[in-house]
Amino acid sequence: MLPSFLSLLVAVLAAGAAAASQGHDDGAAAQRTMEEFAGFPASDDPLRVYSEGGDSPLRVDSAGLQRQIDELASFSDSPAPSVTRVLYSDRDVQARRYIKGIMKQLGLVVREDAVGNIFGRWVGSEADLGAVATGSHVDAIPFSGKYDGVVGVLGALEAISVLQRSGFQPKRSLEVIMFTSEEPTRFGISCLGSRLMAGSKELAQSLKGTFDNQNISFVDAAHSAGYKIHPEDLHNVFLNQDTYFAFIELHIEQGPILEKEGIPIGVVTAIAAPASIKVEFEGNGGHAGAVLMPARNDAGLAAAELALALEKHVLESGSIDTVGTVGILQLHPGAINSIPSKSHLEIDIRDIDEKRRNDVIEKVHQSAIDISKIRGVELSEFKIINQDPPALSDKSVINAMEIAAKQLGLEYKLMISRAYHDSLFMARISPMGMIFIPCYKGYSHKPEEYASPEDMANGVQMLALTMAKLSSE
Ligand code: GLV
Ligand code: MN
Ligand code: MN
Repeated sequence: MLPSFLSLLVAVLAAGAAAASQGHDDGAAAQRTMEEFAGFPASDDPLRVYSEGGDSPLRVDSAGLQRQIDELASFSDSPAPSVTRVLYSDRDVQARRYIKGIMKQLGLVVREDAVGNIFGRWVGSEADLGAVATGSHVDAIPFSGKYDGVVGVLGALEAISVLQRSGFQPKRSLEVIMFTSEEPTRFGISCLGSRLMAGSKELAQSLKGTFDNQNISFVDAAHSAGYKIHPEDLHNVFLNQDTYFAFIELHIEQGPILEKEGIPIGVVTAIAAPASIKVEFEGNGGHAGAVLMPARNDAGLAAAELALALEKHVLESGSIDTVGTVGILQLHPGAINSIPSKSHLEIDIRDIDEKRRNDVIEKVHQSAIDISKIRGVELSEFKIINQDPPALSDKSVINAMEIAAKQLGLEYKLMISRAYHDSLFMARISPMGMIFIPCYKGYSHKPEEYASPEDMANGVQMLALTMAKLSSE
């Protein structure tokens, strides 16, 4: 029989309390006190698991978690089962209110920074120590699903709830973070909140002049959502290097591996390196019937050719890990009988190997220049929006996750994340790790996205136990 979660937690409590006591009191006395509290013999061996037998009353409230996920999904600008929740929209504001409500119900100390990153802290007995943080995002790209990011926010709050119900008392504070705009939908910048938290001066600077496609400025959009941003103060969002002792993000895999292999947990060792680029071509346009083919300089065809060139360069990299996507392609004026005079592409290129990814970017740039010459169009923009390096998980966090998985009796797999996450940036200011759970057929960024209650419960237990361990260190 699998050891119950309570037993595992008691083992962590015991090990944590034993560690915390060292250097303070007489170790033996502390051990006795702790054993009385726990009701089990204490052990310094973090792998030791006590089995009390039978079902623990402290299991994850899967039904409650699912209800919350469904409720959050109802804050959407597209019909169910799809979810669309864009930064600072009314739906986003509703979702923020919902998350803060749960944080408050759990008795967490809630704060928000200037751009709306939301923090819910369970203050530990040694509040001056770096906290153990977790979290993810609840913004959703157009017509996506209800689990991406959400499992890492609502699941994290459930992990806190599990720990609270268990009687666990954190030594290091535990914190759940809901990051602002992990998705680049509105302003073209991914991981906006965590990028800023990690101290991106370039972003703080560029946000002063950033507009969405309706020409609404970032600052005005934030104001409309209730965040009275002063553009000169964005550096206040930056966090110090010692704010967090560890950061762990729970997320659906967004790929098929765990489900295919029947493995319930992925322990992420690294996050692939993403880049995004905006390109614009400009031609003369004209009448679709009257302008003969040799006289044209069609900005739409230049865009089409660049999309195919991207595919070619990506495939030529020789690695299955190189991927490239033209996710946005807009033509102006967008009339069937008008030759496109302008085209706008947004290109996403990723790899686990930064140099290989950068080589593809170079080749795409060269192709854009060549295409513009051959087609007689102007390459009016080739702008690299972000060109981020990959991030490695920290050994200390990987170790804590592996021990937690073993104690929970959950098979796990070390794996990389091909999607990016706020963890990519949290790794710049904190030891980082990620827990993946399977999702149906690996589907993500579409309405069919699904994670089972059992898989989510495993992820929540993994997160709770990992946080409990790290909190006690
Ligand atoms: C995150 O949403 C990603 O595109 O990887
Ligand atoms: Mn996403
Ligand atoms: Mn996500």
